[in-house]
Amino acid sequence: MAETPREPQETLSNLLQENRRFAPPDDLAAAANVTAAAYEEAAADRLGFWERAADRLAWAKKWDTTLEWNPPFAKWFVGGQLNVAYNCVDRHVEAGRGDKVAYYWEGEPEDDTRVLTYRDLQVQVNKAANALAELGVGKGDRVAIYMPMIPELPIAMLACARVGAVHSVVFGGFSASALQSRIEDADAKLVITADGGFRRGKPSALKPTVDEAVANTPGVEKVLVVRRTNQEISWNGDRDVWWHDLVDRQSDQHEAQPHDAEHPLYILYTSGTTGKPKGILHTTGGYLTQTAWTHHAVFDLKPDTDIYWCTADIGWVTGHSYIVYGPLANGATSVIYEGTPDTPHRGRFWEIVQKYKVTILYTAPTAIRTFMKWGDDIPAKFDMSSLRVLGSVGEPINPEAYVWYREHIGGGRCPVVDTWWQTETGAIMISPLPGVTHAKPGAAMRPLPGIVADVVDDQGNSVPNGGGGFLVVKEPWPSMLRTIWGDDKRYVDTYWSRFEGVYFPGDGAKKDEDGDIWLLGRVDDVMLVSGHNISTTEVESALVSHPKVAEAAVVGATDPVTGQAIVSFVILRGGAEESEDIAKELRDHVAKTLGPIAKPRQILVVPELPKTRSGKIMRRLLRDVAENRSLGDVTTLTDSSVMNLIAEKLPSAKSED
Ligand code: WT7
Repeated sequence: MAETPREPQETLSNLLQENRRFAPPDDLAAAANVTAAAYEEAAADRLGFWERAADRLAWAKKWDTTLEWNPPFAKWFVGGQLNVAYNCVDRHVEAGRGDKVAYYWEGEPEDDTRVLTYRDLQVQVNKAANALAELGVGKGDRVAIYMPMIPELPIAMLACARVGAVHSVVFGGFSASALQSRIEDADAKLVITADGGFRRGKPSALKPTVDEAVANTPGVEKVLVVRRTNQEISWNGDRDVWWHDLVDRQSDQHEAQPHDAEHPLYILYTSGTTGKPKGILHTTGGYLTQTAWTHHAVFDLKPDTDIYWCTADIGWVTGHSYIVYGPLANGATSVIYEGTPDTPHRGRFWEIVQKYKVTILYTAPTAIRTFMKWGDDIPAKFDMSSLRVLGSVGEPINPEAYVWYREHIGGGRCPVVDTWWQTETGAIMISPLPGVTHAKPGAAMRPLPGIVADVVDDQGNSVPNGGGGFLVVKEPWPSMLRTIWGDDKRYVDTYWSRFEGVYFPGDGAKKDEDGDIWLLGRVDDVMLVSGHNISTTEVESALVSHPKVAEAAVVGATDPVTGQAIVSFVILRGGAEESEDIAKELRDHVAKTLGPIAKPRQILVVPELPKTRSGKIMRRLLRDVAENRSLGDVTTLTDSSVMNLIAEKLPSAKSED
């Protein structure tokens, strides 16, 4: 097809026309992994559909009962046994695909690369599994993993899965106290970490954070440390063990034992509105079934020819399900990149796409908006003709970003799949299928085959097309969370109490005239910053923990780059000096308490907070202020126009209580 150069502006406005729909490209449709019949088959026999998806895995013992449902507690593939690591690694080697590349690893420093075939992965996972045994870690024990994006991270996860230990990966950007509370909640006996990793062109340290966290967690017996950056670190000879000393000398043979389908696979913490993070528990058989099937269907993965790259950090669920478990279960070849998109230059992502001839790219709207800001000329310098499917995840993708992604990254020919799901759902739930369904810029479209989701009003009644309300999931699905670690009651209260008998994810949604689903964001007070959930309560608690702060209110304000940005209003304690430096001091304090991701964009010192008569902070008003007024970067206010604005709104708002 002859390419005629087009005016970018013209193209964009054209593509943004109301009700713009993109049909699946003919070549994709002709060879798609899944056909439209999957929707009907699953609707007619949902459990039968998931049984066939489970049959794509290797089971040591077939299950007796597909689903045992004691609402809201589910057990899938009951009586079945399998080993996740065997499914992700060994069976591909046994099938003669040992030389196939599992991961092309690209370190942030250029030319720092590693290639791991499935056979390499098998050797490494077996050695790591033997090392776990030597450290006394076995089935059911919890292991905290706090690592940079290096191959030892998926290797450590798979080694845990192999021996039946439950991993709890903590994102490497979290602070010592965040790591400590997660270690304590899961009662981990081992921490696996590294001296550091490379980010933004320099080595960053991880080990000192672990030292600080485990100083107060006597349950941690050993700390296993990968050498990545060669920086000086302090060493506790009784507790710390080098990965290369312990793992390298192990046997590369390890017999994988089958585990029950409902054996815990991992815990992953997610922020909640009410303080303490929730330990989301995923189990073995159902989780692997749905991550593998969705990866196969939503990305139309062809394991023999595709090069797949998910840019997420493995510390989040996207990395668990779509860098580690789903792709490996399918025998895919993936790229893993350690660093940031602007190191050493702003074309790094596109250079990687060009270098490895990436065919499927999965990234987040916040990244896409950053690339838009950096300019069209940057991706235009690279050959990205290998790409054929693009994915988006983490927050609603605005139509402008969607169309930019399709055009400037996908060359106008690649379908974009906007995938809705959560840490709790374990795998993709709502998404187009690139060779089967239409896609619309900004819409996640329709529930996948086997998923029963709907939009309901506040009474729980299904809304008609054109209506808006709350997203719900009406039937259990294989990769659903099983509970909150150690807190069944909170599991029931958080997800199953808003509407009778259905799962409430906490998102607002609407159905358009065609019945397609658009996600509208969180209905509660969780902020979504650069695709990460951060609760207002957690940030408020962190602010109030500072000796100078009396009271704090936090809102998420729309931000063109990060989706939402954290804006905080604080009342200082009597006697605390209001100074130019206070905003910086408080921002740093939040970063230290919760991690840099939770650092507020702005801190405003105010004399009063608007409250209802029952004492609830009126966040809606604060959000108006935060979004509608340009407040400058670091501002300290006592009686500025901002508070006048709040005050003006107060009389009418007061009656709302
Ligand atoms: C929340 C879950 C799923 C992995 C990344 C985040 C929002 C996620 C979309 C999407 C609109 C989305 C929701 C959801 N979200 N994907 N495609 N469209 N919103 O996992 O940290 O558990 O956050 O992210 O609000 O509830 P998470």
